[in-house]
Amino acid sequence: MYEDRIRRPALMNKLMSAEQAALLFKDGMTVGMSGFTRAGDAKALPAALVERVRSAPLHLTLLTGASLGNDSDGLMANAGVVARRMPFQADAALRRKINSGEVMFIDQHLSETAEQLRSGDLKPVDIAVIEAVAITPEGGIIPTMSVGNTANFVQQAGKVIVEINLSAPLALEGFHDIYVPGARPFREAIPLLTPSQRIGTEAIPVDPDRIAAIVITDSPDSPSNALPPDQETDAIARHVIAFLDGEVKAGRMDLSLRPLQAGIGTIANAVLHGLIDSPFHNMTMYSEVLQDSAIELLDSGQLKMASASSITLSAAMHEKFIRNIEQYRERIVLRPQEISNHPEIVRRLGIIALNTALEFDIYGNVNSTHVGGTHMMNGIGGSGDFARNGQLSIFVSKSVAKDGAISSVVPFAAHVDHTEHDVDVLVSEWGLADLRGLAPRERAPLIIENCAHPDYRPQLRAYFEEAKLGGGQTPHVLEQALSWHARYKREGSMLVK
Ligand code: COA
Repeated sequence: MYEDRIRRPALMNKLMSAEQAALLFKDGMTVGMSGFTRAGDAKALPAALVERVRSAPLHLTLLTGASLGNDSDGLMANAGVVARRMPFQADAALRRKINSGEVMFIDQHLSETAEQLRSGDLKPVDIAVIEAVAITPEGGIIPTMSVGNTANFVQQAGKVIVEINLSAPLALEGFHDIYVPGARPFREAIPLLTPSQRIGTEAIPVDPDRIAAIVITDSPDSPSNALPPDQETDAIARHVIAFLDGEVKAGRMDLSLRPLQAGIGTIANAVLHGLIDSPFHNMTMYSEVLQDSAIELLDSGQLKMASASSITLSAAMHEKFIRNIEQYRERIVLRPQEISNHPEIVRRLGIIALNTALEFDIYGNVNSTHVGGTHMMNGIGGSGDFARNGQLSIFVSKSVAKDGAISSVVPFAAHVDHTEHDVDVLVSEWGLADLRGLAPRERAPLIIENCAHPDYRPQLRAYFEEAKLGGGQTPHVLEQALSWHARYKREGSMLVK
């Protein structure tokens, strides 16, 4: 049984139930789990830990690649299993626990967790829980739909629990490229020169003696929860395409553009989907997540290949992907997130970074994470890795949220994830502001007139005019800078009646 999945016979005696494996965990441990934006997450151990905590206290520090599927983050948070969580999440129940102060959340650039573990800046991982397609005769672990921080967790953990997922086809073997950089400061340069290059191994090397348990599962990844494109996202896509077309016409790039990165969520997926109607071809992606839109572009032939750390698809697209998996093997590479998001590679390849903002201010500072300046939404994810280092850093957002009660263009971003120094282009459904080479006083009118919703433009103009009276490189009326957010809290709308 399972010989095709557990190819090292000596490991067969490590087969056990998730409940038995859960007994390996002790209160206070640091746990590294596979999983990246709902892809490739452990399916059985999270539920087993929720059961286990009924009989003994268990407060874990939980590290992953990014967000988990199957409501695992929420279930573990509600059961009190997770005391500390990093580097990303996107679960409503966990979000509530974070915002009530019950779970300590460390919101981190996704390329940095592995570096901090390797440098000893974080407590080492005690147990790694890794979803796999198979274990090779040498003991190597073949991941499923994501790589994330899995290789780093496996390298460090005292004990490794492998969840073999029978629903993940063996044909996934060959999609992964596992390369783990050496220690600082004498590390060799990462030898990756093009998005398609393979520089590592197909499996994650592990000392088989550290594999403490093997658990069999068969449930698929949770499907992506990105919504389909709508009128506004179509308009945003058209502005982005027109802008990129202008870059081509200006001779700064050819029709293959530069390698593309596209962030998570509905808007980024819809914008990328819009590229299907563009003149661009022979494109490549060097991103962290591949959503449905990336597969559509591979199918249309406009995208030559895509490199990422995970594949997160809708149920229908997942089915199609698995059915035609052989077509994608040579065109998709899944890498550790410290490689997919590596600042030096992102800068060298000249990535076009496309990420979503919750809000941005009239000078170009972007808030991607904190609703109203205080409440965590998901986390910064990889947006900072790409925005800070890409050749072009584009942020998109609908101009208003909550039926117009919130303006996404505000006088002062109530929390700043990406400073004006890292942001080149802002886009809403109304238009695009190209901020390159512009000083703050030049940026403000452009952002107000091109990106803000017409209902909010008079208020923004008035704010900017008053701010200029006080002078400054970046003029503000400090007493009013956050008054829009305060008004929304007080009156339920940012609009002055
Ligand atoms: N204030 C309050 N809420 C806002 C808001 C604002 N300024 N702007 C948007 N929202 C709300 C929306 O109303 C929506 O709420 P709902 O879920 O209750 O309907 C929610 O935020 C999501 O917005 P949506 O317009 O559907 O966009 P999205 O699915 O594309 O997600 C982000 C947008 C910013 C939340 C998401 O892209 C994100 O978490 N980004 C940070 C991480 C990142 O960029 N990673 C990129 C590398 S992968």
